[in-house]
Amino acid sequence: MTHAFAELDGSTLFYLALYVATMVLHVVFMQYTFAGTIVVAVAAVRRRFAPGAQRDIVALVARDWLPMAVSAAITAGIAPLLFVQLVYQQAFYTANLLLFNRWMAILPVLIAAIYAMYLVKAKHVDDARVRFHRIVRPAAAVATAVLVAYVALAFVENHLVSLAPAKWTEMYANRQSMLTSPDVWVRLAMWAVASLPVFAACAAWQLRLGACGADDADRTTASRALAVIALAGLVGDLVAAAAYGAIAPAFRAAAQGEALATGVALLGVALAVFAWASVLRARVLARTMLVLAGVGSLATIAGMTVVREAMRIAALSGTSSAPHAPPASGGFALFVLFALIGIAVIAWIVREVARALARGELVSDRG
Ligand code: HEM
Repeated sequence: MTHAFAELDGSTLFYLALYVATMVLHVVFMQYTFAGTIVVAVAAVRRRFAPGAQRDIVALVARDWLPMAVSAAITAGIAPLLFVQLVYQQAFYTANLLLFNRWMAILPVLIAAIYAMYLVKAKHVDDARVRFHRIVRPAAAVATAVLVAYVALAFVENHLVSLAPAKWTEMYANRQSMLTSPDVWVRLAMWAVASLPVFAACAAWQLRLGACGADDADRTTASRALAVIALAGLVGDLVAAAAYGAIAPAFRAAAQGEALATGVALLGVALAVFAWASVLRARVLARTMLVLAGVGSLATIAGMTVVREAMRIAALSGTSSAPHAPPASGGFALFVLFALIGIAVIAWIVREVARALARGELVSDRG
């Protein structure tokens, strides 16, 4: 354990560990959603969903699964939301209040994004309705990408505001926003490019499992597209992280201070690059390579989530917003009981769906 975490008491560390673990889950679904909306918007603008268009299996899978992915991102966001409030009460709430309308806008924006996703997905629209295919669907797809990017931007800005207690008074008095700071935009770009390999890994597994009725020909076509998306994202991620390190010394210091976590994250990138390069060469979504790509992406997310926390702890250390959790928490046994019930129910649902899939009871159409 390094300096940043070593100073924390056991209770804070416990809730922080839960925060990091649940945040990793949120990041996986959020990144699938983030990148998925971009893939779908590009395909829609290129009229890939119009009648008679060349079949674009990656875009079809993303389009069909986006509503599910965004729901998963939202539900997986609730657990880290609870833990972040426990550990960083003052910093988190102050950032919420300073952003206020832009922070509250997340809710209507997400609702609009979800409706737009269903509009993009609408299948039974008369082929004669050219206007729908030419204008409405592409417009809805672009709107979805913009709306989801807005939510990401709000979380990035909120996070950076929460890290800067020294600026709060001035921000409040002068109605300043962080949006003029390059940190926000470079950090947002880092999240956007980092989402590409995660999307590619998840979509590849979906195609292996036959999403949208994918067959071997689809999988061969998709292997190249997904490998290109993933490799572009992995290279872009390194570039964006270097750019962020150059403008944010606190990020550089946290990455250097948490050498193990940074090493795990970089190892994850290397693993994913190896796996996707091999997919690109062989043009096959091979199981072993997808396992490696998935493990690589998870390692990167976990490592970077730890670095992200080290950066926050260092920023708040010595201020009245330094992290602390309740030393004696009431109802701990109840918390553990419901956590176990939740995990058991999720495991049971996954098993039932896997069994139904194996029996061929859940079959999707070819989109
Ligand atoms: C599609 C919708 C969403 C997107 C694209 C998204 C994106 C993001 C991003 C980019 C971050 C990291 C910010 C940073 O480190 O700079 C983040 C953090 C987070 N998100 Fe989401 N998010 C979404 C929805 C949600 C929802 C609905 C919730 C709550 C239910 C949520 C809960 C969280 C939490 C708790 C954090 C960590 C905040 C912190 O540590 O300061 N997210 N999200």
